[in-house]
Amino acid sequence: MSAEKGPVIFIDDDEDLLRAATQMLKLASFSPSVFGSAEAALARIDENFDGPVVSDIRMPGMNGLQLFERVKAIDADIPVILITGHGDVELAVAAIKDGAYDFISKPYATDRLLATLHRASEKRHLVLENRRLRDAVARSVGDIPLIGEAPAMSQLRETLRQIADTDVDVLVEGETGTGKEVVADLLHRWSKRRARPFVALNCGALPESVIESELFGHEVGAFTGAQRRRIGRIEHSNGGTLFLDEIESMPPALQVKLLRVLETRQITPLGTNQTRSIDLRVVSATKADLGDPAARGDFREDLYFRLNVVTLRIPPLRERREDIPILFGHFLERASKRFGRPAPDMSAAVRDRLTSHDWPGNVRELVHFADRVALGLEGVGTPMAPGRKDEAVSNLPLSEKVSLYEATVIRDALQECGGDVRRTIEVLGVPRKTFYDKLKRHGIDSADYRKNRECSKPS
Ligand SMILES: Nc1ncnc2c1ncn2[C@@H]1O[C@H](COP(=O)(O)OP(=O)(O)OP(=O)(O)O)[C@@H](O)[C@H]1O
Ligand SMILES: [Mg+2]
Repeated sequence: MSAEKGPVIFIDDDEDLLRAATQMLKLASFSPSVFGSAEAALARIDENFDGPVVSDIRMPGMNGLQLFERVKAIDADIPVILITGHGDVELAVAAIKDGAYDFISKPYATDRLLATLHRASEKRHLVLENRRLRDAVARSVGDIPLIGEAPAMSQLRETLRQIADTDVDVLVEGETGTGKEVVADLLHRWSKRRARPFVALNCGALPESVIESELFGHEVGAFTGAQRRRIGRIEHSNGGTLFLDEIESMPPALQVKLLRVLETRQITPLGTNQTRSIDLRVVSATKADLGDPAARGDFREDLYFRLNVVTLRIPPLRERREDIPILFGHFLERASKRFGRPAPDMSAAVRDRLTSHDWPGNVRELVHFADRVALGLEGVGTPMAPGRKDEAVSNLPLSEKVSLYEATVIRDALQECGGDVRRTIEVLGVPRKTFYDKLKRHGIDSADYRKNRECSKPS
């Protein structure tokens, strides 16, 4: 006797065939559940179903292809095997392109069907096993903290816990660096969607033509240059969370399309009329106050109302100054560990900076400041003044000192220019390629500095 191979759902409107299939599957150590209609089978399928689904294509009522679409919407990783009659092969091939696991022509050889079922079953067991593992890891890593004891932050954490596990769409509002992505990430991790994808799209970083196919996907030939089919981010996030960053930058034409998706929970990839159902939660983030008509600009009011079922506002750091020391302490310790050196005592200069600075770059600016303090390079805009003796740095070999100095100058320039690369290059007076090489070498991400600030030459 071979080992138990797990459940299989088998659907056919022919009763004799169902009886034969039941027998065959039992003999091969599967646990079959057979159904005379797709509708009846669907009622038994959810994202925890641990096996493949086999269905005839031609049936009265819902046919096999429609069933496949429905199963895919429940969980795209459930293998669906289609049984085709005369003349259905083309349809079946299209379904395979669309993600069906396999198709088998009638009358089928038992061996062929069983071999496919073995593979499909194993694959399904693996997928579910992986999900369970990822879940366990997510739980054991614990809830990554959204640090802060200010009343607004405690309140925010409380709200996050309350709504994370619901499916409401959420709009996160806050200045640059206040932690919007941290919040979006927590909404995902604290939800039952945590084992499914968290897909982020920065609406401000892509040209209009690209965003559309990034979001919705396209078929071959949908536009000039579309040589391969592409699954859009929305579809990728099926079952999970779609994070739309800088939503205020979404072009008006796409706002209309996005609104439709949010209302119908269906998408139509470019170059096709076929709609596909999707199950997703949308978290969007914005730096603008979209509730204010003056600040909203050409952002559609109806989309705003649709996105902000719940709005979470993260206050800027200057409005919760009591959190600065806690955050700084945390980042300093983390940076010291990363750089492999003991956390330095806080100097008077550092304390001054913490209490007097306005932190326009908010928590992100504080993270970078802590990095510099950990390296002994305290003070924004005063990177290692020439001739100054700094304990931590003076022990380093010359090449490392030079490298640290260079990284600091680049970071400061990026900070000054609000992450505007073109202007930073001008300020630094280096060739473009050299600049990018240096960013890479020092592990600097210019996006970390992007914000709407005036650029001035550092004095
Ligand atoms: N409350 C917090 N606790 C711990 N870390 C935080 C907190 N808020 C922000 N951070 C850290 O600060 C940095 C910036 O946060 P994040 O990327 O979420 O900001 P953002 O609001 O998305 O900024 P932007 O609008 O510029 O994209 C990250 O390194 C993040 O981990
Ligand atoms: Mg962000």
